[in-house]
Amino acid sequence: MKVLGIETSCDETAAAVVEDGTSILSNEIASQVELHARYGGIVPEVASRQHLLAIIPVIERAMAEAGVDWHNLDGLAVTRGPGLAGSLLVGVSVAKAVAAVQEMPLIGTNHLEAHIYANWLGEQKPRFPLICLIASGGHSDLVLTRGHGDYVMLGRTRDDAAGEAFDKAARILGLGYPGGPAIDKASETGAATIELPRAWLKGSYDFSFSGLKTALLRLVEGGRVCRSDDAAASFQKAVVDVLVTKTVAAAKEYRVKQILLSGGVAANRLLRRQLLAESPIPVLVPPPILCTDNAAMVAACGYFRLQAGKRDGLNMDVVPGLKLV
Ligand code: KG4
Ligand code: ZN
Repeated sequence: MKVLGIETSCDETAAAVVEDGTSILSNEIASQVELHARYGGIVPEVASRQHLLAIIPVIERAMAEAGVDWHNLDGLAVTRGPGLAGSLLVGVSVAKAVAAVQEMPLIGTNHLEAHIYANWLGEQKPRFPLICLIASGGHSDLVLTRGHGDYVMLGRTRDDAAGEAFDKAARILGLGYPGGPAIDKASETGAATIELPRAWLKGSYDFSFSGLKTALLRLVEGGRVCRSDDAAASFQKAVVDVLVTKTVAAAKEYRVKQILLSGGVAANRLLRRQLLAESPIPVLVPPPILCTDNAAMVAACGYFRLQAGKRDGLNMDVVPGLKLV
């Protein structure tokens, strides 16, 4: 069964064709990073205009690469939230138009759920029950997953999401945008020698990164940071220590079979290394290109929803604040 996925929730215009929810036939991404870099962050109006320009060529490339025509496709999955309203609208409007004209099943997907499904696209398949850490630009969610579509939210961020914290720290250190990859890169030459606080929030699986960000800002403002690479490495270590410790603790408490990593921050090399090293429970991590926003994960998620008999009507709307549970 082949599903076309469409993703336009933020600043990547993406389309992909995935077979049986597990094998990627094509995965096209048109990134807007350079367009937004000059503003130091995503400008929603600019993002939606760019999606409009890119969406059709990106879908055409994904279908050509996969060697499929509309009649070879069994469904059309599209991100309906969470995300930027104007950006989501572009993908959803195109998907609805195609679904209507081609009379294809339309499947609205949750962007966070799609991030989890990036883990179904690798060689090793996930086994339930599992714990998934979704660490992205807008979310840091620790989710107990007992089966397809069966989620229990164990913890979430109380302030900044992990990716947001990386982006703000990079801005404070003058490392540019996007911040996560910049901190990851700068940390290569830096040493995590600067003491920074970790918010453990004992007794809870919630996260909090704003105190850490403020501590970094105070150090920089006080002229106490000599090398930005040392500061980047120290900041990265503080975030990763908390993410890894809480994820492993949850996996042990709920006696799960596996831990899955997902979301843009899962591309972070220290996070991947440290979780693999410290977890006594098997860990699955998608390749970096499937951690950051892409449409293959949307198509995979759409396939499993379709299998469960879930379809949406042409009255489906975008939901910018859509929750996982
Ligand atoms: O999942 P994603 O592509 O988009 C959202 O759904 O938000 O995540 C983007 C976030 C950004 O905050 C970016 O800085 C962060 O993921 N990120 C990273 C790395 N690559 C991307 N954070 C840390 N290390 C990385 N290598
Ligand atoms: Zn995302």
